[in-house]
Amino acid sequence: MPSTNPNEPLIRMENIVKEFPGVRALGGMTFDVNRGEIHCLVGENGAGKSTLMKILSGAYTPTSGTIHVEGQAYHTLDPEISQQLGIEIVYQENDLVPNMNAVENVFVGKELAKPLGIIDKKGMLRRVRESMREFDISIDPQQKIEDMSVSDQQFVKILKALMNQSKLLILDEPTSMFNVEDAGRVLNLVRTISARGIGIIYISHFLEEVVQIADRITVIRDGEVVRTYDNSKRDVPLSALTLDMVGRPVDTFYQRERFAPGEEKVLEVRKLKLEKHSPPISFSLKRGEILGMFGMVGSGRTEIVRALSGADRFYAGEILLNGKKLHISSPRDAIDAGIAHITEDRQRLGLNLGSSVLENGLMVKLQYMKPSPLYDFKTYAKLVSPVMEGLNVKTPSLMQEVVNLSGGNQQKVVLGKWLISDAQVFVFDEPTRGIDVNAKAEFYRHMTELAKAGKSIIMVSSEMPELISMSDRVLVVREGAVYCELSGGQINEQNIIKLALGVISHE
Ligand SMILES: Nc1ncnc2c1ncn2[C@@H]1O[C@H](COP(=O)(O)OP(=O)(O)OP(=O)(O)O)[C@@H](O)[C@H]1O
Ligand SMILES: [Mg+2]
Repeated sequence: MPSTNPNEPLIRMENIVKEFPGVRALGGMTFDVNRGEIHCLVGENGAGKSTLMKILSGAYTPTSGTIHVEGQAYHTLDPEISQQLGIEIVYQENDLVPNMNAVENVFVGKELAKPLGIIDKKGMLRRVRESMREFDISIDPQQKIEDMSVSDQQFVKILKALMNQSKLLILDEPTSMFNVEDAGRVLNLVRTISARGIGIIYISHFLEEVVQIADRITVIRDGEVVRTYDNSKRDVPLSALTLDMVGRPVDTFYQRERFAPGEEKVLEVRKLKLEKHSPPISFSLKRGEILGMFGMVGSGRTEIVRALSGADRFYAGEILLNGKKLHISSPRDAIDAGIAHITEDRQRLGLNLGSSVLENGLMVKLQYMKPSPLYDFKTYAKLVSPVMEGLNVKTPSLMQEVVNLSGGNQQKVVLGKWLISDAQVFVFDEPTRGIDVNAKAEFYRHMTELAKAGKSIIMVSSEMPELISMSDRVLVVREGAVYCELSGGQINEQNIIKLALGVISHE
């Protein structure tokens, strides 16, 4: 019988070991969470966070160890038992069905039925609307998942987990695809949920966010617990967390090497109109320049770069590369022209999950190279290996299937794939989401190297520190238009935010 001792933690995982072929992901981990507590789990990419959570959700069987749920011991769980015990997980991966709407996704496999087995569509919609109201989530419940923004998709995933009477909610990087405002909504939601006595395990690479929200913080490294902090005063220093994560002090503010970009305009956007009635957009990008782009949710920043990279068609205007007008009507055209686009939604669009790190790394590059009649592993490995190592991709070998890598390491493979390509212009949309502090610095170094080698970069980012430290100029996007351009000393957080909100005007 479950114990009713109120001092007993809701969940206690004891000495959990998990081995995969060639990888010891967890080396005897002990971790607990109480009712109504927000316990954050942090660690570098590949440290073992998701694996530990998948053991709780029953997706993985531990090699050894014990899981206590309300005092009851289990050696293994399965997804069904886990749900019956009140454990709900929102995975880092997108596990929604793309061509179904939100309501259908929430109830998939558990559809409400009326007498005679007719599916009760109205009833399901009503339930979803009630939950949306209760937790203050605003999405269109009847919109298809594939037509939703990645942040709305995330709300659907959370909503789905909230529909059951859960005791423990596991959120694996719930805000990694979010902007500041939406992330704030998620944090509020998490507080509301915990206030109802539900235990929460929260995984995030945004350490500021973690310190804001956590009651306790556990840092793990290489499958072992390094330390658990009491954060009831919301005062654990970030430097202590990063030191525990990486094992050495990390500078969280990257200081890039500065050099003047060339005078030549590599890319020119002239009077680009996304739709008939949208405002015309004009800007240019110089050789060796890093151009930051900032805008609030719905400002149109992602739409602008999607047009550049052929992901969406545009209504009117011109895009010139090295003075030559481009005809871009598909992502393929953009790649051929030399424009690389690293999308916001990397998992869906960026990788071939069943293929190896090597094959994924070569995916873009090979489109430019003459295919060799023999699969020349050595030549290819020589191209891919240094980049993946430089980005610190944690994998037993280049032949590992990407599906087996941790979420953050998958993202590094996408970045690596583009770094290996011969593009001239790189468009990075929120490039460092979900990547640990160490790998971020590594990525910034790569970006600086690219610029130094004469490549040009557009970086859409809502992370102020990287926008400010990396950009030569910043374009502020508002209401679908480039509202103003900042350079030098004008590039600071206050300016950027105020202009993006339209609170001050730009002289
Ligand atoms: N199915 C699997 N097969 C083989 N190895 C795996 C599998 N799942 C995870 N691993 C390995 O286990 C280790 C821990 O991965 P895990 O996904 O738990 O990391 P994480 O801490 O969640 O990282 P991230 O922050 O990148 O999401 C990694 O080395 C990963 O490659
Ligand atoms: Mg993970």
